[in-house]
Amino acid sequence: MPSDLVVDYLTVEYQSNPMPLDVDRPRFGWQIVSAVRGVRQAAYELRVGTSPDPQKDADPVWTSGRVDSDSSIGIVYAGPDLAPRTRYYWTVRVWAGGDESSTWADPAWWETGLRLADWQARWIEPVQRPAQPEPSVREIIGTGADMLSGAARHDMLNPPQQMRKTFTARAGLTDARLYASAHGIYTAEINGARVGDLELAPETTAYPDFLMYQAYDVTDLIVAGDNAIGFIVADGWWAGRLGMFGTSVSYGDRLALIAQLELRYADGSLEVVATDGSFRSSTGAIRYADLLIGEKHDARLDQIGWTTADFDDISWTSVTVTDTALDKLRAQVGEPVRAVCELPCLATHPTSDQGQIVDFGQVIAGRIRVDFADLPAGTEVRIQHCSVLGPNGDYFDSINGRNNENTDVYIARGGRETFEPRLTYHPFRYVKITGHPGPVAPAAIHAVAISSDLVSDFTFHTSDHRIEQLHSSVLWTLRDNSVSIPTDNPDRERAGWTGDLAVTVATSALYFGINGFMTRYLANLRIEQFDDGTVPMVIPFFKGYRELTSDILHASSSPAWGDVAVIAPWEVYQAYGDQRLLEQSYESGRMFHEYARRTAAGTVTEADRADDDLAAIWRASTFLFGDWLAPSTTEIVDGFYNGFAGPGANELIPTLYYLHSTDILVDLARVLGRTEDETRYRDIAAQVRRGFRKAFIDSDGWLTADTQSSYVLALAFRAAPELDDRFADRLRALIEANNGLLDTGFLATAFLLPVLSEHGLNDLAYSILLTDRYPSWLYMLGHGATTIWEMWRGVEADGTPNRASYAQPGLSTVGLWLGRYAAGIRPLEPGYRRILIHPRPGTGLDWVDGRYRSVRGEITVRWERRDTDLLVAVRIPPNTTASVVLDGARLDEILLDGALLTGHRDVGAAAQDGDRVCVEIGSGAYDFRYPMHHLTSRDPGTGS
Ligand code: BGC
Repeated sequence: MPSDLVVDYLTVEYQSNPMPLDVDRPRFGWQIVSAVRGVRQAAYELRVGTSPDPQKDADPVWTSGRVDSDSSIGIVYAGPDLAPRTRYYWTVRVWAGGDESSTWADPAWWETGLRLADWQARWIEPVQRPAQPEPSVREIIGTGADMLSGAARHDMLNPPQQMRKTFTARAGLTDARLYASAHGIYTAEINGARVGDLELAPETTAYPDFLMYQAYDVTDLIVAGDNAIGFIVADGWWAGRLGMFGTSVSYGDRLALIAQLELRYADGSLEVVATDGSFRSSTGAIRYADLLIGEKHDARLDQIGWTTADFDDISWTSVTVTDTALDKLRAQVGEPVRAVCELPCLATHPTSDQGQIVDFGQVIAGRIRVDFADLPAGTEVRIQHCSVLGPNGDYFDSINGRNNENTDVYIARGGRETFEPRLTYHPFRYVKITGHPGPVAPAAIHAVAISSDLVSDFTFHTSDHRIEQLHSSVLWTLRDNSVSIPTDNPDRERAGWTGDLAVTVATSALYFGINGFMTRYLANLRIEQFDDGTVPMVIPFFKGYRELTSDILHASSSPAWGDVAVIAPWEVYQAYGDQRLLEQSYESGRMFHEYARRTAAGTVTEADRADDDLAAIWRASTFLFGDWLAPSTTEIVDGFYNGFAGPGANELIPTLYYLHSTDILVDLARVLGRTEDETRYRDIAAQVRRGFRKAFIDSDGWLTADTQSSYVLALAFRAAPELDDRFADRLRALIEANNGLLDTGFLATAFLLPVLSEHGLNDLAYSILLTDRYPSWLYMLGHGATTIWEMWRGVEADGTPNRASYAQPGLSTVGLWLGRYAAGIRPLEPGYRRILIHPRPGTGLDWVDGRYRSVRGEITVRWERRDTDLLVAVRIPPNTTASVVLDGARLDEILLDGALLTGHRDVGAAAQDGDRVCVEIGSGAYDFRYPMHHLTSRDPGTGS
């Protein structure tokens, strides 16, 4: 029994101590930490109780007993039905060969929420002017107005509503919980103190069917005697402006609140304070708060002390209790949005119009917090947010879209005051402050980044600091775009564009723990998917996007976009081994396939019809985004881009994605034991492959669309594996003809470097990674990027910014290559139960250090050149095994711990495979060293 065996990182439903959790049979997970080699869990024992130390619980709720198993994730709770509003504590110990177990892990917990029958609260609505609908997309087109710009009309905005109530608590309170949700977004206070640390609750979901409520432990905020509770509800996603066209009232035009405060006493009694007709409402200092426009706060109108018991609300109005049903309320799914990071001001400079630019050094999604000292009452300070500056160093509005003002306004009360808007958020690295007498002191202003509070799992260091910065830019891009849903950008749209997620989900799953986040997104997807299987382009399907797709694009989906229904569950399964999510998603994937098949069939030409194989492909005659924003097919006119490249360059893409999704469905059906489906999908995939060859490979063996994108995707999706070498040669030739530069968009960029590394062109991957010529990632960084741009040409060579997004996940997929190829870490079995460690050293980097915290524990790879030797240090956690592939190695030259590898007792099979060696290892630390020989590949001289 290894003495240092520690069980740690306990999770329930892949989260740390979630509350509220509404899953009947939640699943447990843990990690074993041990430095000893070859540790494998032989058995575990789990205890669940309601006392904080479940190990000692005399009457536990459930004990698993000793279970012989090496599973440490997805262990299903199998005790009696869980009670609502109950905190369950749990712990686990493990055996790893030997009679002695580890010690019990430090207990973790989860807390159940309310069942439908437990809600005593009713929905309440304050007296209010209904939210004003902005023109619909059809109306905007009708008036001939510019669809992509239009200033906000502040007179259309309503102030957020404040609602309050007093109540009495007795002595002997042991526990207090608040459960709340809103039509709109809400914040809560009790006795003048903020409740919890969540932001933008209840977040964005497909509201009509799925509205989350949150739970807060408010025990410490309640006093014996008189108390007050208050809420502010603002438009948020319910009624506010959303998306590119700034349309409003997506879900309703009235704000509403539901909340239930439960007070539990030592004598076992429970008192409930619930939203009802006794709440009173008013407006206050916040004159408007809109996600796109910003927040206006007139501190002179502050209702000071409005959430304290002795506040006089006589002038407030009573609320209406509505009969809105409660059955769409669901406990929060996945990690909530929180403030995740604070950044200080790095520099400031004055502008020509008496303003001041403040630089926080990083594009974030969030807000500022500023302490004003002695502002004269009535001073109006404007804070405009932007991600890039104009060439003259001044504020630059890079955002296309109506109502997208991103400006907060603060009107001073006088004296010392702090402004931090919490009912909006903005994309920014810079703010421009005007109206402040003299400059704001740098120490008085901070930027606060918000994001779904996902655990960051991947760190990456290397000899070239630019690549470290690239890694950081990928991380921030994904973080800025993980605000409740995976968004396309935090500036123009903030929308759950499906194609963006389809290409980036694997990268996100490397950088962050997204299992809960994706569980929520895929629940939204299942709701929004049409009955005929169509997966809309944007999920949740905000009103403006319904109008966009029906009135402008005349299409609800595009190849590679809807495929997210199949790709996302599969990638999440690879990363976390969550088979339940796979099961939940299967029907949606199957329906998507039916949609794809039908749509493909509709594109078949008269000539195709005679041939079953040709009749199976998907011609590019349906609506198509294609390889969105590839450099050579993107037109930029006056800073605006047009990314529609037309079917020519994208001719192969519908069939290739159709093939890709069908291949994944084969795997999905296999994992879920759906043998008939597996066979059917396999047959379809085979037929589509045959059709692909007939339609898109000419008599000389080249693809009919002679583009980098086509070759990259054909290689990545194994469209014609027998031609891989030929395709790789052609891809290299196309890149060389393009001065060694990439020419790929959202789709193919994700696969470009991986395909090069896989097909003997690793050094070409490195040179594309390391060039700073346009178009490249280092060109972006060289032009001030701290996040990945939407367009390769986000900023022109002379420094002029275009009007695009500056934090778009589409091109951030290079992060996956950093993890899977530069460091060489990828799952061979779901949840990294078996790992492939295959680092790909290449010309330009001297060393790489990648660390990934998988659901089974931390995996690290560090390689380093030492003269002509390569040192590769690998660490993998207990309960995993790995195949380590050492490029350019000869079996009889490899040292492990300074001794010859061959015959070393700590490794399994080791075999030469061409110019690489493959070694099987169990958990622990392994330091390999070997003289690195040139690889016999297309690359001239890979290796040292
Ligand atoms: C979004 C994308 C999206 C695209 C459709 C854009 O406006 O920002 O990321 O996928 O439209 O091609």
